[in-house]
Order: sequence, then structure tokens, then C-alpha cells
Amino acid sequence: MSEIEGGEGRRRRLLPLLTSGHGGRSAMTCKYRCGDACSHPAPNASDNEYFGDMVSTAMSRRGLLRTGAAAAVVVGAGSTSALTTAAPAAARPSGPKPPSQLRPTPPEYGRPVGFTPVGDNGLDSVVVPNGYDWSVTIAWGDPVEDGAPEFDFDNQSVDAQLRQFGYNADFVAVLPLDRNFDRAVLWVNHEYTNDELMFRGWPGPEAADPELLRISMAAHGGSVVELERVGDTGEWKPATRGRRRYNRRVHTNTEFRLTGAAAGSEHVRTGADPDGTTVLGTLNNCAGGVTPWGTILSGEENFHQYFGATADVTDSATVERYNRYGIRTSAGTGRGWERADERFDVANEPNEPNRFGWVVEVDPYDPDSTPRKHTALGRFKHEGANVNIAADGRAVAYMGDDERFDYVYKFVSRKKYRDGNSKRDREHNMTLLEDGDLYVAKFTGNSPEFPGNPPADGLFDGTGEWLPLVKDGESMVDGMTVDEVLVFTRLAADKLGPTKMDRPEDVEPHPVTGTVYIALTNNNRRTPGQIDEPNPRPDNKFGHVMGIDEDGADAAATSFTWHIVLLAGDPENPDTYYGGFDKSQVSQISCPDNVAFDPAGRLWLATDGMSGSLGPNDGMFVMPVEGEDTGHLRRFLSVPVGAECCGPFITPDGRTALMAVQHPGDGDGASPDSPLSTFPYGGQPRPSVVTVWRTVPDEDGYIGD
Ligand code: FEO
Ligand code: CA
Ligand code: CA
Repeated sequence: MSEIEGGEGRRRRLLPLLTSGHGGRSAMTCKYRCGDACSHPAPNASDNEYFGDMVSTAMSRRGLLRTGAAAAVVVGAGSTSALTTAAPAAARPSGPKPPSQLRPTPPEYGRPVGFTPVGDNGLDSVVVPNGYDWSVTIAWGDPVEDGAPEFDFDNQSVDAQLRQFGYNADFVAVLPLDRNFDRAVLWVNHEYTNDELMFRGWPGPEAADPELLRISMAAHGGSVVELERVGDTGEWKPATRGRRRYNRRVHTNTEFRLTGAAAGSEHVRTGADPDGTTVLGTLNNCAGGVTPWGTILSGEENFHQYFGATADVTDSATVERYNRYGIRTSAGTGRGWERADERFDVANEPNEPNRFGWVVEVDPYDPDSTPRKHTALGRFKHEGANVNIAADGRAVAYMGDDERFDYVYKFVSRKKYRDGNSKRDREHNMTLLEDGDLYVAKFTGNSPEFPGNPPADGLFDGTGEWLPLVKDGESMVDGMTVDEVLVFTRLAADKLGPTKMDRPEDVEPHPVTGTVYIALTNNNRRTPGQIDEPNPRPDNKFGHVMGIDEDGADAAATSFTWHIVLLAGDPENPDTYYGGFDKSQVSQISCPDNVAFDPAGRLWLATDGMSGSLGPNDGMFVMPVEGEDTGHLRRFLSVPVGAECCGPFITPDGRTALMAVQHPGDGDGASPDSPLSTFPYGGQPRPSVVTVWRTVPDEDGYIGD
């Protein structure tokens, strides 16, 4: 144990952490969500450098207060992020209005967190602070498209599921439909299915009736659901029948158009799509973002698990590429899908896996639109993507590759964003992600004495570079063409020596300061010899959060500074850091996954893995990231037993929080005949979206006060 004097006089004790098994999750979750990624070696076998021979860590408060000129530079360019997303004037079928016409006025920027935090618990319920209430907005199996039947657990069908709300809700976003913000569209990702909880007597993927497999497939993708405000409260409910004009299910048979330099590439052509331009379906959609032009971005994450092989893969180049993405190369199955649709058999269609692992863009305002997969943003296990606008108007998308020891990326568009609300402006902006430069991040610490000694400056911080993979339409990677860089992005990035991170999840720019926050959820495989200043803890089972500041406050910059703002875990553990705030005053958190901001500029975090690492149920937390309250993290809610918390989303008026309860009742040994959870309606557990609002509003009723 050691101690260090913090930058502002605080003493912090330092202690290495204990080891964990599945990174905080049940074995069941690992199997169905990540395809047992934790059980395999990390796919990044490149020889990029590590630093380290010592486990001690140190941290002090950064004391960063971003106001004035630096913030103002970004406000003009980047204020159209998820918080203030414009509803496009050109949207169909009706004419939504921009947020400047919404009421009420968003809350005062920088206000402190005021609610009494929710305590640790293992309850089979959503728990919110006093003065708040919650309701289930929509749950797995609820009707989405017209004609969808009501949910019937023991009589599921493909036809029903294709029109009902899918399984395992993840990313959540709400976009306005009218000037009073009384109507809105909800987008929700359906990341994956827990087949063992969906079907009574589930026999496993090798033996399951292909009809069950097709139901499971149909439960993937996403949903658009029209919402209505309940009275004058912060509560939202699905629109009544007859007012569901925007409702839509996107699923594994929905047609997507490939865009960008890898569209039509030999690596994405298949027997069913010899042009390599049209893909059926989207898979494992994890997190996402709302673009300034009012569309949804959604990340295809652990797509590898859906591909089986009826024969060994022998082509050496294919084997190398599959290995880097965790795709099966020996005969066998993952989810059994090749038994229901032969395109998921890599022995039959070796390029089909190359058509997944992209960022997809969906226009929730146009139920007839063809969603797109943007190859210019690279192919990896995309957690999500969030857009900011650079000083010169180019669109910048920040992205994490969620795998142990993988990388952080950004895309910079070739064309510039048009800050207008006309139909032509929107059509132009919807092309921005089809062409541009792609970069991968290299982080360098500024305390060369670490590891070995605590950082003398008391900070885990330093500088960084965005290393170009594609620039001005040219490959910047020796021996690889542009389409190869985009389709096999992990292999291309390996050649440039970026920094191996502790599972980069959400990467999201702050809407005012432009600081980009990165949730690094955990990495139980990092050894003491592999720690470095940006990933300073071995066996990092609690995770951390990093902020990066682009040079010149310009999102298109190719260099930046970075600093760690949160080292999660039991606050009494001396290895943790809560922004320098008094740790006796904070709620404990681990495994930060999804990130959002509210109109007051506060950072919201949803967790995945609290129960397996710290004990209590997962939840949703808020933490100011500016001013004296920086690091004052409080738990806003907890989700039911076995669930992870996804989303989260704070509406642009600051009055409503939404989040997803993903895989309630997930745990070893759970089944429909022996459920661990009955959330939300009694009976079988059903992944759900939950709305939270204030019942005892202050003068404005804002969430988080
Ligand atoms: Fe699907 Fe990275 O969480
Ligand atoms: Ca340092
Ligand atoms: Ca996630």
C-alpha cells in the first residue's frame, strides 16, 4: 500500500485489486450476449506496446473547469448533439419542429445533483429516488407495428415477433415530433436474445427447432415507437392505436444499403448479393447515438457469435481475419443460426460476416426509408457512435471497439454539416457519414515514472494522437487497400500501433465543452505487466472513464490531451478515484458502459456488471464533470435482479429519463420454469424500456436535481 499527495491536497491510498471471472457477468450472459468472448483469448494478438511492471496507482483531481472561450468555440459547432437534436422539418409524415421551439426551457447549465441516491440492493424491481416515479413504456413482445398480436409467451411466432417489440433493449433515444414536445418517436436497439429465457424447454442451439431460431432472429434489430406525453408530466407512453404512423420494426431481414468505399468490395459480395451493396439485417446492436440531423446511429457489436461453420475454414487469409474478429474457423455452431438460414454458415458464405460489424444509420422519421451501413466508419465490434461537429463544419463520429485490448476510433467527414432545417439540408447531412477520414487513437502518458512509481503530477493523463487509417480517400496502411482497411479495420489498426484499451464502450462528446468521454468498462485480462497510464489498473474488473480534449477544442484535430475522470469500484478501495470528490459522499459504481448527458451538462452512466463485481444490481448514475461538484457521483436508479442498465437517455427538456432493463432475470440456472425475475408484469421476465419522471417537481421538474 502506498499513498500520494493529490493535486489539491487530498491524500489517497493505493492498493491493487482482486481478480474476477467473467468480468462481472453471469456465465449465461457471456454465452448469449458476447458469444463467450471472455472465455476465449482476447483477439488482439498484435504486438503493440504495453508499459508496466507495478500495480500501484495514483490519481488526483484534475480540477478542470471548462468555461469561457474554450467552451464557446464548441458551442457554436457542436451544440446540436443528442441533447438538442433537431427534429427535421423535412420529416414525414408530419412536420416536427426544432427544439428551440420546445418547452420548457432546458435547465440551467451546471446545476448540481440534488436527489437522495438509491442505495445498494438486489431487488427485482426498478428503484428510483424519493420524489420520482417510473413506468414501463414498452416491453419485449408488446405490439409495435399495426396488426401485431398481443404477447403470448407460450405461443410465440416469427410473424408476431417481426411486428412486436424485440428482445434485450439497449440504446434508447427519444426525438421530438411536435413543437410542444407532447409527441415523440422512441428508437430502441434490440441487441441480442437470451434464448434460454425466451423459450420453455430450450434445448440448445444444436437441437432447437429452426422455427425457434427464426423467432430469436426476429427479436434482434431495433424498434421505432411513437410516444405521447402523459398529461403535463414527464411520463411518456406509446401512442394509442391509430396514432402509430412512425412505428416500425427493423430486424434480421430488413434491407440495408452499404455506403462508402467498401460498398461493392469483393469482400462483401455474396451469392445473394453479388453486387455487395445490399445486406439483410442488423445484428447485436448495442449502443448508439442521435445525429445533429435527427437520425439514429447504432453499433453492430458482437456479430461474430451468429456465424457457424459446417466445415473447417482453411483459407489462411480468411482464418487470420476471422481470428481477429473472434469468428469461428472450425466446424461447429454458435447460436445455431446456420441451421435456420444458410447465409450464417461461413463454409457456405465466407463473406457474410464481413457485412456485419458496422455503424448503421436509421431515419426514425421515415418508416419507409432504407437504413444504411456506413463502411467509412470501419468494421469492428462497434459499441456505438456519437457525432460532434468540427470547427470547420465537418461531422466527427467517435467510436469504441468493445473488446479487451481493442481501440478507440474517430471518423471525420469529407463534406461539411449544414446547420439548417430544410429538407435539402437534411438530405445533405444524411450523406456525411458516407465519405471521410478514419483514425485510431494512441494515448501517451506524461508520467514516465509510472508504472514503477505513482505519477509525479498526481494524474493519470497525457497526450494523444489520432493515427490515420484512411485519409483523403487513400489507405494510410501499408499493404492494404482502402476497402481492406474498412472491412478488416482491426487488422489495419494493429499495424499503426494504437493503444490497447480496457474495452472501449460508449465514446461521447460533451455537448458544450466538447470533451469526449470514454467508458472503459473492465478488462480482467490486463496483467500487471500490461498497465500503462491510460489503463492503469491490472485485472481491471471495475472499469474507468476517460475524458479527451481535442487540441484547439476542434473535433477534427489530430492530437489531443486526455485524463482519467473516474476509476470505478468501492470508494473505500484506495485504487478508486471519483474525480477528486470526497469519496465518502459518492455512490459506488463499477463497469460503466453507456454514457449520456443532460441539458445541465451532467454525465450519466449506465452499468453492466455491478452484481458480479461489487454485488448490488446494476443501475444508472449521474456525475457532474465540471466545477466543484465534479466527481460527485450518485446512483439515480437500480434495475431488477439479473439485468444490466442500458440507454440511458435524458430528454432535451430535462424532464424525463429513459433507460432499458436488459436481460432481467439473467443468471446461471434461470429458465422459464425457474425464473429469477418476474419483471415487469409478473410471469416471465421481459426486457423493457422504462420512463422515469419527477412526481414532486421543483419549479421546473428536471431530472437529477
Ligand atoms: Fe453490448 Fe459493449 O456492450
Ligand atoms: Ca500524468
Ligand atoms: Ca453496451
